[in-house]
Amino acid sequence: MDKLNIVGGNTLNGVIPISGAKNAALPLMCLALLTDETLVLEGWPDLADTQSMRDLLQNLGVKSQHSNDALHMRIDGAIGIEASYDIVRKMRASILVLGPLLARMGKAKVSLPGGCAIGTRPVDLHIMVMEKLGAIITLEDGYVLAEAKHGLIGNHIYFPMVSVGATENALMVAVLAQGQTVLEGAAQEPEITDLAECLIAMGAKISGHGTNTIIIDGVDQLTGAKHKVVPDRIEAGTFAIAAALTGGHVTLQYDRPEHLAALTDKLIEAGIDVSIGDNSMTISGQGRPQPVDITTAPYPDFPTDLQAQFMALMVFADGTSNIDETIFENRFMHVPELMRMGADISVAGGSAIIHGVERLIGAPVMATDLRASVSLVLAGLVAQGTTTVQRIYHLDRGYYRLEEKLNACGADITRIKG
Ligand code: EPZ
Repeated sequence: MDKLNIVGGNTLNGVIPISGAKNAALPLMCLALLTDETLVLEGWPDLADTQSMRDLLQNLGVKSQHSNDALHMRIDGAIGIEASYDIVRKMRASILVLGPLLARMGKAKVSLPGGCAIGTRPVDLHIMVMEKLGAIITLEDGYVLAEAKHGLIGNHIYFPMVSVGATENALMVAVLAQGQTVLEGAAQEPEITDLAECLIAMGAKISGHGTNTIIIDGVDQLTGAKHKVVPDRIEAGTFAIAAALTGGHVTLQYDRPEHLAALTDKLIEAGIDVSIGDNSMTISGQGRPQPVDITTAPYPDFPTDLQAQFMALMVFADGTSNIDETIFENRFMHVPELMRMGADISVAGGSAIIHGVERLIGAPVMATDLRASVSLVLAGLVAQGTTTVQRIYHLDRGYYRLEEKLNACGADITRIKG
């Protein structure tokens, strides 16, 4: 297994390009199942997770070609209806084929994803959506079997809790249902808006996306489209925190700063200089950050996917800060690894108290999930000596050439092939 050796102490200075968003690309790719025409996703991020989705869709009959930073996708022959466990267990977002398969084929057999490192992550809300639109759902041998013999009928769906994935599955199944569907309590993440905008380009009738109430009027069929994947706010936020940590001056080639307002506000509160330019954001660290409390919550509040990275910043703060993780029940696995490097953190349930320290000492640490592993890389950038982050396949799931982008700004990171 590959690992990263990080020699700490360099400040980051320079320009970092931001790729298309992983968490937008994954549902967008599933739209290829909803049309017989070609779907082109420009700015498609070539990551382990998006390659896994490509493999799954190929098994279902979608042919794809990656050229000039775009993925061209088109159904080629019969459409399969089964997403098997061996693929779904590797990439839980595979559950996002459930809606499109049901909408297109009237039936689907998708493995239950099972839990992952950060939590049990049930899919009961996805199932609730399909049943509300008239599908018959049975759970058998670890699979979700969905069937809508008489088609799908629009309905009023109320989400008791915000779910990004269930909102995405609801959008993808409702666009071909008969009549109107109202999603109340819908997720408002930019990736939802991006998905809705691509569906509208394909001929879907959707309004209210980006708010907590989305209205979909079903249509008979959808065309192909060409769509640019929204830039990755989590990647951009990760590099913004890297600049803040190292006391450097970094300009992100990123033109959606409004998607990062919750983070930007907290960075400014911590004494970091953030300036918004034309199609860019510039972050300048100014010595030790001030302690700042955060609570993760659905968009537009502070994203859970930046919690581990922000904690790496607060490890060095000049004081004590509190982090409350309200989305996932086990998203503090970076804590024991940061403590091995000398961080002073105590955890009780979903709350962490971080007593800032002046320095960390590099050490061998273990990556456990995508965002926890990148927080260890960030800590390694400023730790004394060398930090070795093992199991970095977690990183490769969601970051495109991370070490290349950081080294181009002065970091000293080496990938050791294992
Ligand atoms: C998406 O996961 C993202 N993944 C996650 O990013 C992100 O952390 C999460 O949204 C929250 O923003 C992708 O988009 C591929 P949820 P998703 O459904 O859709 C519970 C990363 O690091 N829930 O909004 O799975 C669930 O357990 C990844 O890039 C149910 O109880 O998240 C969680 O506690 C990690 N029942 C909460 O809702 C359900 O049916 C939010 O989950 C669905 C979810």
